[in-house]
Formats: sequence, C-alpha cells, structure tokens
Amino acid sequence: MNTVTTLGQFIIERQTDFPYAKGELSRLLRDIGIAAKIVNREVNKAGLVDILGEFGTINVQGENVKKLDVYANEQFIAALSAGGETCAVASEENEGLVHIDSEVSKNAKYVVCVDPLDGSSNIDVNVSIGTIFSIYRRTSFSGKVEEKDYLQRGTDQVAAGYIIYGSSTMLVYTTGKGVNGFTLDPSIGEFCLSHPNMICPQNGIIYSINEGNYVHFPDGVKQYIKYVQVEDSKTSRPYSSRYIGSLVADFHRNLLKGGIFIYPSTMKSPKGKLRILYECNPLAFIIEQAGGKASDGFRRILDLQPTSLHQRTPLFIGSSEMVTMAEEFMMKYSPVMAQ
Ligand code: AHG
Ligand code: MN
Ligand code: MN
Repeated sequence: MNTVTTLGQFIIERQTDFPYAKGELSRLLRDIGIAAKIVNREVNKAGLVDILGEFGTINVQGENVKKLDVYANEQFIAALSAGGETCAVASEENEGLVHIDSEVSKNAKYVVCVDPLDGSSNIDVNVSIGTIFSIYRRTSFSGKVEEKDYLQRGTDQVAAGYIIYGSSTMLVYTTGKGVNGFTLDPSIGEFCLSHPNMICPQNGIIYSINEGNYVHFPDGVKQYIKYVQVEDSKTSRPYSSRYIGSLVADFHRNLLKGGIFIYPSTMKSPKGKLRILYECNPLAFIIEQAGGKASDGFRRILDLQPTSLHQRTPLFIGSSEMVTMAEEFMMKYSPVMAQ
C-alpha cells in the first residue's frame, strides 16, 4: 500500500524533537503551510491579470488588484496573526516590525522573519518564485517585542524554510534535525513528503552568479569565475552557468544537484544585495543541515551578528567543497575585504 505523509502529520510526528516547545513551533509551521497554499493559489493565477485586472486597478469583482509581493506579505502576516504563536513579524515588505496585538499572541514565544515573495522580477514572466522564512525564540520576556529580539545570530534559529512556486510547489524546512521537502499535491491540497533527508552533494558542476555585474566584482570572485571556466576533465570543468534571478529557485536547484550560488559585494552594493535575516540566514541554516556551506566569502553566515533588520551581506552558498574553494580565491585575491 502506498502511504503518504502530509506536512501536518510529519510536523506532529517530529514534535517530540522539541520537548520544550509544547506544540507551539508545530502550530507556527502549520500556519506557514496554510499561508503558502493561499499564496500558491494566487501565484498560479498570475498570468490571468489581463482577465482579472492589472495590478493597481479594480478587478471584475470590484477588488483592488494587489501586487503579488504585497499580497503574499498580507497572507503570511494574516496566517501568523490568526495562529497566535508569534508576536511580531519582520518582513522585507515592512520597514519596521509588524506587531500582532491580539490576546493570544501576547505571550507568544517566537519571532518570525519573512521574505514573502522572493524573485519578484520573475512574477510577470512565469518563472519560479518563492517565499523564505526564519523562526527564532524571542529573547525578551515581557512587554512589546523589540528589534533586538530579531537581531540574533543565524545559529540561534529554531526553524527555517522556503516555499518554491515552480513547475510544482514545494515547501522545504529544517528545525535543525535535517532537511525535508514536501510537494504540494493540488488534487488533495496537501504538502506531501517527497524529499526526506535532503543532502546537498559535496561538489557540483553548476555555478550561479549574475555575471552581468562582472566588472564590479571583487578580484577573488573574478578569479574564481575564471577558474570554473577553464577546461579540466579531472574536475569536470568548465562548469555550467545557471542563474534564474530568484534566489529560492537557484538555491533549490543547487541543493538538489550540487552547485554554488554567489551574490558578492559589487561596486554598486558594497555590502552585497541579499538580506541576512530573511534571505541568507534561513538558507544558510538549511544548507548546513543538508551538509553544505554558507559564507560571506570569509566568514560563516550563521555566525554574523546582525545590527539592523534589513542588513545585507555577500553570500556564497551551496556544495561545501565549492564554497571552500571560492573562499580560498577570496582570501588570495581580495584579502583586504576579510576585515
Ligand atoms: P526579492 O525579489 O525578494 O527582492 O529578491 C530578489 C533577489 C533574489 O531573489 C535574487 O537572487 C536576486 O535578487 C537577483 O538579483 P539581480 O537581479 O541583481 O541578479
Ligand atoms: Mn528576496
Ligand atoms: Mn521579496
């Protein structure tokens, strides 16, 4: 007999991993799963804007048509508010914290960071997009949650995950005990365990970087790109270049197949482009749990101490041996950036 494990069942089975959590973390993950299904429904209608109304206009039902990233933000915040297990949300779409002032969330133990819609430039062109989330225990014990509850190191995350809205929709998450992936079966409306114990190959033959920015890259990255393009049968070089422009989609492919994703500092963005709290830390937690590695070129991402909500960092992430090699190039050719 074919047995299917749904996300809900899996979360409950794994609840014993967190005896201290008394089910709150499980409920939080369940709330995220619900929001993911709602956003997925809307993502699948993205090509219908001409029928349903352009963004910013009134659609045939008389509703204001929202941009999908604003819609996704509202859905995640609504699901987290309804669940009552978090007291505030830090989102890419909001400058400050979004406080949830309900009676149930007042004593909530967790804080959530979210990039509700990642890859927004790909929304209108039917290319995979995603959502990224990260969960911490709140550090203050009473009163209103403050920014300092969010400015924790990535090593303090209790759970993190992403949803990829692609040729199929998947939710992948970790609570620090391995990484598991669930594929949405639209016929039953459930995420079903499809990728248990995901492991990232130690080495790969894919590199993912926006090479259009080449002239602005640090020398270490330029030299690494030269290295991956040299012919060498022993190391299967030259590697293949694959860059979607949706971090979640590029990350997901490299997690499954092996590869490295790099968003370095550039002259335009000296601190890199990607955000620590809701892009780099959650994916770094997942890649480490899958046996891979995440670095800013010199340091482990999860060890960085964030000082503001929307702080950025360069990101080198993927197969462990590839990230280590890229770090060696950074150390050799861009040592001044190590400080
Ligand atoms: P977001 O859509 O959440 O703003 O994130 C966009 C990010 C990320 O998804 C992607 O890897 C990167 O921006 C692409 O940037 P470039 O277009 O500069 O390559
Ligand atoms: Mn993003
Ligand atoms: Mn986004």
